[in-house]
Amino acid sequence: MCGIVGYVGPRQAQEVLISSLRRLEYRGYDSAGIAITDNGRIEVRKSAGKLQRLDDLLEARPVAGTTGIGHTRWATHGVPNDVNAHPHVDASGEFVLVHNGIIENFLPLKEELLEEGHEFQSDTDTEVLVHLVADEYEGDLIEAVRRAIGRARGAYALVVMTSREPGRIVAARMVSPLVVGFGDGETFLASDIPAILPYTRSVLVVSDGEMVDITADGATVQTIGGEIVDRAPMEVTWDAGRAEKDGYPHFMLKEIYEQPGVIEETLRGRLQPDGSVVLEGVDLPDGFAAGLEKIWITACGTAYHAGLVGRDVLEKTLRIPVEIDYAHELRYRDPLIRPGTLTIAISQSGETADTLAAGRLASRLGSRLLALTNVVGSTLSRDATDVLYTRAGPEIAVASTKAYTAMLIGAYLLALQFGLERRTVGSPRAAELAGELRALPEKATRALGMDADIAKIAGRIVGVDDIYFIGRGLDYAVATEGSLKLKEISYMHSEAMPAGELKHGTLALITEGTPVVVVLTQSHLYDKTISGLQEVKARGAKVVAVAYEDDAEVAKYADHVLRIPRTADFLSPVLSIIPLQLLAYHVAKELGHDIDMPRNLAKSVTVE
Ligand code: M6R
Repeated sequence: MCGIVGYVGPRQAQEVLISSLRRLEYRGYDSAGIAITDNGRIEVRKSAGKLQRLDDLLEARPVAGTTGIGHTRWATHGVPNDVNAHPHVDASGEFVLVHNGIIENFLPLKEELLEEGHEFQSDTDTEVLVHLVADEYEGDLIEAVRRAIGRARGAYALVVMTSREPGRIVAARMVSPLVVGFGDGETFLASDIPAILPYTRSVLVVSDGEMVDITADGATVQTIGGEIVDRAPMEVTWDAGRAEKDGYPHFMLKEIYEQPGVIEETLRGRLQPDGSVVLEGVDLPDGFAAGLEKIWITACGTAYHAGLVGRDVLEKTLRIPVEIDYAHELRYRDPLIRPGTLTIAISQSGETADTLAAGRLASRLGSRLLALTNVVGSTLSRDATDVLYTRAGPEIAVASTKAYTAMLIGAYLLALQFGLERRTVGSPRAAELAGELRALPEKATRALGMDADIAKIAGRIVGVDDIYFIGRGLDYAVATEGSLKLKEISYMHSEAMPAGELKHGTLALITEGTPVVVVLTQSHLYDKTISGLQEVKARGAKVVAVAYEDDAEVAKYADHVLRIPRTADFLSPVLSIIPLQLLAYHVAKELGHDIDMPRNLAKSVTVE
């Protein structure tokens, strides 16, 4: 998704903007650009492709100046090319703007502006905004931006500069994320915190419907309606180094290897020795959990797959119906969400547009909204009544790994806490599960030990047309995530399904040599899954099984077995996903793909 940055201060803006844009690369982009004001002129450099191309341009034609804005674009309106890349300038060349999000009424606005004689260079929705700002300008940039966005509809964040007011930048947020960073005599803007962490830890998260007016001396915040907002910045305590590769060839691999630590961190201080749970931020009214009749879970992508595990775990533990739906489906399907229910919205970024909309719908319908998210201060965390942070640290690779595992841990913690409150989990069982949870970091470390074997198996999978992932119950939930991991970074066709579903159609696609990955950890479903496995074996499939280390049976049916330490079946997804993440990683590596930034994908989907 697009990333935006801004800088006013004593340094050369070019360096700050490029270094901040680099830290936003993980969001996914297809072009990049910067604009800097100097001596009453605006200079723009932009280019399709990766930041290296912009770097090359800047090396050939550097831009001097200490106030600037920058952008990485993930195309929505208009193909990714040099012209459509941001920043966009108005006809006079005096106003320049970058934008993240979508202007829904850009077509009628553009027609109106064309009739008035404006000429457009690009096919983007963004360009209308800079024309509007220039049209509305009467000597005060913030007023011009306010009037311009009054005419626009959509979900966006934008940053604007004019050569008529050097040293000033104005930004506005309507849904898409935006933060301000405060330094000593310098001020920063960015789509998210890691982008500016090397410069400052004093950060203010801009809320929906707010505008920011920044100079080197600081920032003032006001609502779009003009009310002054008095909110103190927060101090970011996590380390910028956590957003670096630390010697790993890719962020994805680093993040896979961080999982033992992430599990430990997500449990830290929350799990008591007797199995009781203390979740700061989850403060249900007395009797709420005990009286709960239904839970809804909503999310997208990997977070949805974590939700599939959460659904089974919560339903089994709490003995109430738990329904899950993709956020983009739930928000439009007129769901029967009732007051007195709990909706758990899961999102690593806390900024996924559909998840936010589904959460808000659930709140409007009277459900209590609980956010399970990784980003402190994210929009979802602010929308929700209760928040459980996953403490995975910044996740940079587009393919989510450690955030998924942390979401699973979050779901187990919620199940334990609510189960104890509802008395569907007794203290001895809670203490037993707590012990198993505490053992997971060490077991996850052991699961990572299979890396070299998995690399060899990956070599055999490269080049096939299709691959299938199967399992039952929680193993099916893990299969969905394993399949998504593989397809998003290897670009191979991959499909996951419950093992019992194969014979209802997909079996027709299994022929000699078709790879099938089976997850096989659920004892009560073991024999059933083995039957599915035999069905594919009989059609010539090459089977890779993920099973417990002490499973003596599976080797009779599978061509390769990836073994994980035994744990309670209930918790196995935390371990069984690890070999599948590594498999996806090694396949994509063999294929030479851009692992951390797969084509067409964005880290955070902040548009619909
Ligand atoms: O930030 P979120 O968890 O809301 O993101 C949801 C999905 O876009 C995300 O999980 C996506 O599917 C991942 N890139 C998959 O690895």
